[in-house]
Amino acid sequence: MRIVVITGGSRGIGRSAAQHCARAGMGVVVTFQHRQDAAADLVGEIVSEGGSAVALRLDVGDCSAFPAFRARLEQILSEHWDARRIDALVNNAGHGLFHPIDSVSEAEFDGLMRVHLKGPFFLTQTLLPLLADGGQILNLTSATTRVATAGVAPYAAFKGGLEVLTRYMAKEFGVRGIRANAIAPGAIRTELGGGLPAPFEALLASQTALGRIGEPEDVGRVIAAMLSGANGWINAQTIEVAGGYVI
Ligand SMILES: NC(=O)c1ccc[n+]([C@@H]2O[C@H](COP(=O)([O-])OP(=O)(O)OC[C@H]3O[C@@H](n4cnc5c(N)ncnc54)[C@H](OP(=O)(O)O)[C@@H]3O)[C@@H](O)[C@H]2O)c1
Repeated sequence: MRIVVITGGSRGIGRSAAQHCARAGMGVVVTFQHRQDAAADLVGEIVSEGGSAVALRLDVGDCSAFPAFRARLEQILSEHWDARRIDALVNNAGHGLFHPIDSVSEAEFDGLMRVHLKGPFFLTQTLLPLLADGGQILNLTSATTRVATAGVAPYAAFKGGLEVLTRYMAKEFGVRGIRANAIAPGAIRTELGGGLPAPFEALLASQTALGRIGEPEDVGRVIAAMLSGANGWINAQTIEVAGGYVI
């Protein structure tokens, strides 16, 4: 059985990705930060559908916690799946911030950097010895790296950095057959950054060829397809999943 680790799997896009991966027959490890209840509900739902999943707490913004997370993950792999390796890591966890550049505090900037760039870098480094040869890394970025959107400058800048990092991961890990791609959603209806105000949602929908904003499933099923489909020659790409946003 292939096993995937999805950070931030308790809600939103990560939750949908976990559901679709489990339905595709993968064992799923989801992480949560605060919402243990939501993560437990998800695990219960997957198990009731005949799948297998485990939820672990992890703060992606705290690199000092990563060695202990790896040790716990190794234990879980052994106990639940009699396995020593994972087949994929999805760096999905994150939070949003809607502030123009002239009002972003240094603490807010650093918090976004830790979660969206430093965290994925060092979590990937920490889990790399557990990632099977031929495995995959998916990094969740954002269409805001392509379309400048007032109010999300530091978030978009770190997502842009993560897209560059994705190509470097592909470059350095290719020797082991490990691929790395970025999935860049457009606006998706989740709790990120407190959710989208209705007028902003209407504007984004009007700028999208398919005439609406996305739902978590629109991205979750793409993540599962990337991890299960016959797409082994897709590598080092940023794949926008946005319904045709600002084209
Ligand atoms: N929604 C969008 O419009 C959109 C667009 C482009 C890209 N994205 C990206 O897609 C990813 C998922 O976003 P989403 O919209 O699904 O967000 P969401 O609904 O707010 O869910 C965020 C998830 O990340 C977890 N999380 C947040 N901060 C964390 C931290 N420091 N350490 C560990 N886990 C943390 C949350 O855990 P708890 O439940 O425990 O709090 C939750 O599981 C993010 O990287 C986001 O930047 C989203």
